[in-house]
Amino acid sequence: MITLQDCRALDTQDPLRKLRGLFALPEGVIYLDGNSLGPLPEATAPRVARAITQEWGEGLIRSWNSAGWFDLPQRLGDKIARLVGAHPGEVVATDSTSINLYKVLSAALSAPQADARRSVIVSERSNFPTDLYIAQSLCKERGCELQLLDDGDADAIAASLDERVAVLMLTHVNYRTGAMHEMAALTAAAHRKGVLAVWDLAHSAGAVPVDLHAADADFAIGCGYKYLNGGPGAPAFVWVHPRHADRFEQPLAGWWSHAAPFDFAPGYRPAAGISRYLCGTQPILSMAALECGLDTVLAAGPLGGMTALRRKSLALTDLFMELVESRCAGHRLALVTPRQHDHRGSQVCFTRTASDGESGAYAIVQALIARGVIGDYRAGNARASHAQDGLGHARGLPDILRFGFTPLYIGFEDVWHAVEQLRQVLESGEWRRPEFNQKHAVT
Ligand SMILES: Cc1ncc(COP(=O)(O)O)c(C=O)c1O
Repeated sequence: MITLQDCRALDTQDPLRKLRGLFALPEGVIYLDGNSLGPLPEATAPRVARAITQEWGEGLIRSWNSAGWFDLPQRLGDKIARLVGAHPGEVVATDSTSINLYKVLSAALSAPQADARRSVIVSERSNFPTDLYIAQSLCKERGCELQLLDDGDADAIAASLDERVAVLMLTHVNYRTGAMHEMAALTAAAHRKGVLAVWDLAHSAGAVPVDLHAADADFAIGCGYKYLNGGPGAPAFVWVHPRHADRFEQPLAGWWSHAAPFDFAPGYRPAAGISRYLCGTQPILSMAALECGLDTVLAAGPLGGMTALRRKSLALTDLFMELVESRCAGHRLALVTPRQHDHRGSQVCFTRTASDGESGAYAIVQALIARGVIGDYRAGNARASHAQDGLGHARGLPDILRFGFTPLYIGFEDVWHAVEQLRQVLESGEWRRPEFNQKHAVT
């Protein structure tokens, strides 16, 4: 059985350990929610302060040129490209993941192969709701159909693709279970049927190695505020394979996507390449913060980059699974995340089954947070009022306790203490106290 001393020894040998110093984490907190909102990098506050006082305060409008504000979407995009297997000039940091999904899905639906027979978007019922909502609204607009599959089985996904399907829209790492799709195999299956593949990398960028070119993906979008540590509501990103970038126009063609925005021409002419996926003026202060977040992930480069981060992420998550299953045995926790390394991302989720039907998952997470271990909870929908919505969203998904592991700042001893706190919460039954059962707006 692994001991606290074993965990400390693993930390001593960890080459990534010093990267924790890049973050301003509060004392006494073990942060297992970087998959939802990455923590504050040390560099962010001074950088944003400089952007405010010098670039904005003194530079004023001159800073669009002198401080490089105008090129930030492309410059940050090049940094993101290094984390997702894209080339320089192929990614822009901009807008939100939801908005970027609208742009790429619309573009993909305009593809020449999306002829009259191809009017279906295939996705999964378990995909993140914003992806499904965006696809639904687009389908309403375009008169196409969203077809949702029940589980994440790759063969079932491949089998659903036929000559009616225009786009396969998948999230690489599932937000609830942490299950990871094989991007290259599914993209190849899509291409064999003449279908374009759109990938949501919200839980992948900065968390697992991604190689968009090796996978031959068509479009990808992702989030800046999770594993990229860009801050609350940070700009997201969008990538389009260069074979498509100049072929399609996206529908939110604002002036920043114009070939020459400062010509102020009345007629629209799209910029070349990925810049046409911009829309309007960018949030420069948020971009400045995002750059600091990206730099924390890129700081792992000389220490082995995403390969080293992945190695440690798998070691941390293996350890967490093993410790929860051994030290919290008897508390009816069941692992939801696949055990197999190449089938999961950087988070671990459990359900709790209880005889009275109340999982207690929310309250257990609240009690853990009160003890300084911050994870989160995602509601199931077995009893939800929307159980019978039009898309049949509810198929008895369980409540889950969700824990994200970011190897930049989480160590093996942290894992030990987190599990020990979980064990105490479960043993003591303190999570049953009313204050831990009161739901807040954001869970
Ligand atoms: C898979 C996935 N896509 C998209 C989003 C969020 O999109 P947005 O940044 O537009 O809110 C999330 C947020 O958790 C997510 O998990």
